[in-house]
Amino acid sequence: MTAESLARSEAGVDAMRVGLVGYGAIGRQVVEALIAGRVPGAVLAGIMDKAGAPEEFAVADVDALVDTADIIVEAAGSQALQEIAPAVLERGGTLLAVSTGAFLRPAVRPLLDHPGPGRIILSTGAIAGLDLIRAARLSGSGVRVDLRTTKRPPALVQPWMSDEQRDGLQQARPGDAPSVVFSGGPEQAAELFPANLNVAAALALAVDSPEAVHVELVADPNAERTRHEVTVTSDLGVHRFVLENYPSPANPATSALVAWAVLRCLADLGPRARPAFR
Ligand SMILES: NC(=O)c1ccc[n+]([C@@H]2O[C@H](COP(=O)([O-])OP(=O)(O)OC[C@H]3O[C@@H](n4cnc5c(N)ncnc54)[C@H](O)[C@@H]3O)[C@@H](O)[C@H]2O)c1
Repeated sequence: MTAESLARSEAGVDAMRVGLVGYGAIGRQVVEALIAGRVPGAVLAGIMDKAGAPEEFAVADVDALVDTADIIVEAAGSQALQEIAPAVLERGGTLLAVSTGAFLRPAVRPLLDHPGPGRIILSTGAIAGLDLIRAARLSGSGVRVDLRTTKRPPALVQPWMSDEQRDGLQQARPGDAPSVVFSGGPEQAAELFPANLNVAAALALAVDSPEAVHVELVADPNAERTRHEVTVTSDLGVHRFVLENYPSPANPATSALVAWAVLRCLADLGPRARPAFR
């Protein structure tokens, strides 16, 4: 009996088989939780990672993964998403995409309108409030989303910056005044500050219009951690929420919340799903 069939017999014959692409910080957390039975009715079916995966779960290619899994979780980055999505969709699979920032790229965005037979589900990732933004958008009122992200200055240093800009950020000390390093649209923000890609992209996808999203990046020498302030303005009200995510212990660039957002989504889709907020 394979590890998967053993887990499946324990989880029930109707168990939802989860295939994973990307066995990094997020992927490992998802695997650990699935093996520990944290998502009732879901089992791990296989893992594909270009750097290798545990032997009992390693799957060589995406076609084999779609054949063994009911749902494929992508947690491997924009490039991997772009590579695997067409095969999953054409073979009728369901793809839970974590690297949502990929959809800001003109080459990837058309996948959202792929005729199938498969489908894409976007992970909420490191952010909240996307349900509210989608509700406001559906109401037809003009929705505007303002994202103000505050980080410690060294976290905003980019390779394209001048020596003067780089030194200014690296030498900022507590007590110094915060400064705005970017103000503009999510596509340009993602290009210039890729670490902010997924949050800006998720907001743009939720409102279905990058033009309706304004991004401001602030370097604050007094910031203790990254902070995202999101203000949604529509005919339904003014809604504001603030996120201060703790980093994943395995990858400081990834929020610890992301793997749990994936697992929550799997729980909602699985055979033992309970009434859920949607
Ligand atoms: N939606 C969000 O809010 C959010 C937040 C954080 C990260 N992310 C996305 O999740 C991705 C994964 O994050 P992480 O912290 O786990 O990264 P990580 O670097 O720890 O792990 C990525 C893993 O994917 C593997 N990989 C890369 N390309 C691959 C390919 N083509 N095929 C198979 N495997 C491949 C790597 O070998 C690595 O093991 C990030 O690249 C980012 O785009 C999204």
